[in-house]
Amino acid sequence: MNVSKVTCVYFSATGLTEKVLDLFLAGLPVGAEKINITSHLFQNGAEFGPDELVIFAAPVYGGVLPAPAAQRFERFKGRGTPAVCLAVYGNRDFDDALVQMQDLAEQNGFIPLGFAAAVAQHSLMPKLAAGRPDGQDAKVLAAFARKVWEKVGDISAASKTHIPVVPGNRPYRVFNGVPFKPETSQSCVHCGACAAHCPTGAISAADPSQTNPQACIGCMACVRLCPSRARSMKPKFSLWLAEKICLFKYGKRKETQTFM
Ligand SMILES: Cc1cc2nc3c(=O)[nH]c(=O)nc-3n(C[C@H](O)[C@H](O)[C@H](O)COP(=O)(O)O)c2cc1C
Repeated sequence: MNVSKVTCVYFSATGLTEKVLDLFLAGLPVGAEKINITSHLFQNGAEFGPDELVIFAAPVYGGVLPAPAAQRFERFKGRGTPAVCLAVYGNRDFDDALVQMQDLAEQNGFIPLGFAAAVAQHSLMPKLAAGRPDGQDAKVLAAFARKVWEKVGDISAASKTHIPVVPGNRPYRVFNGVPFKPETSQSCVHCGACAAHCPTGAISAADPSQTNPQACIGCMACVRLCPSRARSMKPKFSLWLAEKICLFKYGKRKETQTFM
């Protein structure tokens, strides 16, 4: 089939999923529209036809998708639309994220033809997978995109028989969040960037030092994007220790995997 349009729907709190997505897109012979669903202010959805290709991309949190990403993916509907699912993880494990993406895609009218579990620097514990995605990941992702394009070109219409088997379990892992929450220092200039970009609306726009700990998912978006570096994760010592332990347990390089 001839693909009339490529659209990417992605969640990326600190930009690493978007980086992986861009490396994938570099392997496609056509351009793509990008829809960033990360902010809680994002309210839209869209519908796609059977001759379009949709790329879903999200990070892995606790072995599954971040809850707001899974909820917002549901606003996108296909009509037998071919899709690709990219799960991006910080070298620990992607556990059930790909089967969850497969289920979400299928339930919403998409036919997922290809999957990738790509490694990127751990956004919470940055010594894990530091510098990823790197040149090797870029090669794997671009080659995967070329194969996806060939696969779509070779079929007349996407059907369930084209869906590859991916590792993971149902029911999915239960993730109850991380015990780290961001705090705001005196250098906050009340610009409101953190409140606007927060995936869950956990930060008060009027007073960013007020973060709702129940709503916060520990995604690090506010810490990374604050122009005055006023936000940091606490408690610092526990996070430092968790990073040390994870580096010991999961420090060995894992490769970006693809499934077609
Ligand atoms: C709250 C939280 C939970 C995470 N859980 C996992 C995990 O279970 N396995 C893993 O390998 N990486 C995990 N990571 C790392 C992210 O999946 C990884 O850094 C990803 O690239 C972040 O993408 P982003 O920059 O688009 O937000 C976690 C990160 C955060 C903030």
